[in-house]
Amino acid sequence: MSPKSDKRISLLRYWTTRYLVTLFIGLLIIGIISTLWIRYSTIENRLDTIRLMAEEITDRVVDTEGNLHIGPFLPRIIEKRQRFLHLEGELLLIITDKYGIPLYSRPDLPPTALRQILSFSKANGETVDKITIGPDQKLYLVKNRIEYNQETLGWVHLVYPEKDIPRNTEELQLLGIMLGSLALLGWAVIYLLTSKLSKPIQEVAGAAKQIVAGNYEIRLEKTVKEKEVYELIHSFKEMAERLQQLESLRTELLAGVTHELKTPVASISGLIQAVKDGVVTGEEAKEFLNISLNETGRLQKMVEDLLHFNSFAVGAMTVQKDTQNMNRLIQEIIHQWLVVQDDNGIDLHTWVPENTIYATTDAMRIQQILINLLNNAKQATGIGGKIDVILYQEGEEIRIDVKDNGIGIPEEEQPLIFERFFRGKDKKYKVRGLGLGLPLSKMIAKTLGGDLVLKESSETGTTFSFSLPK
Ligand SMILES: Nc1ncnc2c1ncn2[C@@H]1O[C@H](COP(=O)(O)OP(=O)(O)OP(=O)(O)O)[C@@H](O)[C@H]1O
Ligand SMILES: [Mg+2]
Repeated sequence: MSPKSDKRISLLRYWTTRYLVTLFIGLLIIGIISTLWIRYSTIENRLDTIRLMAEEITDRVVDTEGNLHIGPFLPRIIEKRQRFLHLEGELLLIITDKYGIPLYSRPDLPPTALRQILSFSKANGETVDKITIGPDQKLYLVKNRIEYNQETLGWVHLVYPEKDIPRNTEELQLLGIMLGSLALLGWAVIYLLTSKLSKPIQEVAGAAKQIVAGNYEIRLEKTVKEKEVYELIHSFKEMAERLQQLESLRTELLAGVTHELKTPVASISGLIQAVKDGVVTGEEAKEFLNISLNETGRLQKMVEDLLHFNSFAVGAMTVQKDTQNMNRLIQEIIHQWLVVQDDNGIDLHTWVPENTIYATTDAMRIQQILINLLNNAKQATGIGGKIDVILYQEGEEIRIDVKDNGIGIPEEEQPLIFERFFRGKDKKYKVRGLGLGLPLSKMIAKTLGGDLVLKESSETGTTFSFSLPK
């Protein structure tokens, strides 16, 4: 990662600056457009007024017989109208005959300027024109035709300098104040919103740091109204609780494993010590050594399980798949398992379908899973125990159910039985074990492309179901 992308800015600063830049650009555009619009409409208003004046003058300079009559009343009218319409500035009036020859001009213009204006007027039609005279004198020219019985008698020209059109400073100031207040208000709103939004996120980040440091007792504000933030806080709390549970479960389970491994060692050393010290002799000593040997065997099995599990957990499980006659394989496995059971009072039934089921799978791994399930079933049943193993096909899957009529798994333990090292409270003080049978079996089943699940469990018995692809 580049050093640039490593730099982190706070949520508040990030969004406030971004929002402000956007707001500023937006307001600037609005400001420019509004200024142009104000200027444009002021000019238009002025020109409309001048046009009206031109029309009035046109009416006044023609008498009822259709003769042009330019009298001394003109300057008075213009002054009066200018005052009345707030038309500050210098307004020029030029009246020409129909050929463009000047008949009247007020105030008197230098001949060159008059010529220039009239030549512009001639070149253009009856529209309003913006003309430039001299180096930089800009003027608006408004023309109106003097008519009598549809015959052109002459032209009225009103010329108004651009510099006399007001600058609208007041309006522009008002616009500036409005846009400025909008920017300020926008900034305040985004600042408040972002700081409100970033507070719970900051709290969650702080809580996460606490968890990293091993402290699960976190306190988070729960009264937030926003759904997403509430969900974040809620899920985070749940996650912290689950982590705490797992942490204490791990400690507890590790203590269980240590205990399971320590107990046989203690009893073996006690038994051997007794033989060595001559506390027991003869047949009894032999018996003691036999018990020690059995304990050693069990210890060895547990250590093997542990090693197996570890190597499987790191992904070192090998499978050798062959086509297997599942009906026969299941019966063989069960037969072998029964032979090594010391008590023969187990009521075990195997149910296989009439049609032979074939599968491409690893026979040894299936044996491992089945033996784990059978051992669990046996340990859960005791005297009068009954176990059924049922092979059947369901859709594209082959299923093997192992059903017992044992004590069942308490509901609160059911979600935990596939956790490594988990042992039920009814079992852990009675039967030796590490709590690896089910997690290991599930792992193998998944490697074979199937799964192992707890189908049902109640006080009257338990059924595990193990599936395989065909
Ligand atoms: N058939 C069953 N009936 C009742 N409880 C069962 C059954 N199978 C498993 N359990 C419960 O699930 C727990 C976990 O089983 P698992 O096989 O993983 O461990 P274990 O049998 O205790 O020890 P290990 O198999 O390592 O010797 C058991 O301790 C037991 O409480
Ligand atoms: Mg087991």
